[in-house]
Amino acid sequence: MRLAEVPEPTAGAGEVVLQIHYAGLNPADRYLAEKQYPAKPPLPHILGRDGIGTVVAVGPGVSGIAAGDRRLLLRGAVGVERHGTFAERVAVPIESLAEIPPGWSATEAAGATLVYLTAYQALTMWGTLPSSSVVLVTGASGGVGVAAVQLSAALGHTVIALSRSEPKRARLLQLGASQCLDPSEPEWRLALKRSIAPRGVDLAVDNIGGPLLPEVIETLGDEGRVSLVGRLAGPVPSFNTATLFFRRIRMGGVAVGAYGSSEGRAAWLEVLALLARTGARPLVDSVLPFARLPEAFERLAAGPMGKVLLAVGGD
Ligand SMILES: NC(=O)c1ccc[n+]([C@@H]2O[C@H](COP(=O)([O-])OP(=O)(O)OC[C@H]3O[C@@H](n4cnc5c(N)ncnc54)[C@H](OP(=O)(O)O)[C@@H]3O)[C@@H](O)[C@H]2O)c1
Repeated sequence: MRLAEVPEPTAGAGEVVLQIHYAGLNPADRYLAEKQYPAKPPLPHILGRDGIGTVVAVGPGVSGIAAGDRRLLLRGAVGVERHGTFAERVAVPIESLAEIPPGWSATEAAGATLVYLTAYQALTMWGTLPSSSVVLVTGASGGVGVAAVQLSAALGHTVIALSRSEPKRARLLQLGASQCLDPSEPEWRLALKRSIAPRGVDLAVDNIGGPLLPEVIETLGDEGRVSLVGRLAGPVPSFNTATLFFRRIRMGGVAVGAYGSSEGRAAWLEVLALLARTGARPLVDSVLPFARLPEAFERLAAGPMGKVLLAVGGD
């Protein structure tokens, strides 16, 4: 990964060029750079799927958006199959843009869309959960985790959050979790089961995988479900399918990239309506200067509390 000069992007038909102010990092950027991601864009590639910027050029056939308008990125090929937001300027199809939610700061908006859409899909993919369901969120301090905690709380669920860090567990209680546990503490499952007995967890949103996944399954109640979002702890080392049988547990993969344009936009409006219920806002962990992108990836790998952002062109 290196900082370099590239030709100026131009706005094709149905596109605009955005001058990027802030860009959001996601673990998927690193996976893509490490060739661990399904998309294999031609090199050199520019990473970055989230961001906020000002329109500086408008391509043919574009209406409803003009130079000087500010927009944020909303799902699509930017940063995946085409050049992304870790650049001063990027060409973006207008269907991949959304308006800045009223009252949100540039940094709150810059890294919000991918993680909230992911959390929303994880929470809604099994149909409507009865409110007051018990939702367990692993990796709860990260981008997707914070979003899942806030959205679950807005849906009226009891939220149990897992984080390995004591200060982050305290913060998660303020963000809507009713209980926070340390997954590196062997007793966490027992403590959780005791606190919600006689019921079990109704839905687990799992960002971690690895050895934690079988432990998460152990906490589920009858007909419990697992939305599989991420695998930050790597492959699951051993797994007995019999643990799914008797409680009729269902597990399914989340793919935020599978949202089509109109579906993604509808989901985003639902996210905003849910956040408006509680007044919750995106949480920013840190903002680093553009030239310190490698350090920003280190911060992400170390475990942030909310989103890690790059100040590309400032505000
Ligand atoms: N399927 C999809 O469509 C989709 C979409 C977005 C993201 N994802 C994936 O979802 C996962 C989470 O993304 P994110 O943006 O929330 O990541 P993130 O911001 O980096 O946060 C993840 C959190 O997980 C915990 N963690 C990190 N490594 C861990 C490990 N080895 N073992 C246990 N806990 C660990 C850390 O919390 P503590 O330090 O507090 O424990 C960290 O704050 C990633 O794998 C990402 O690629 C998938």
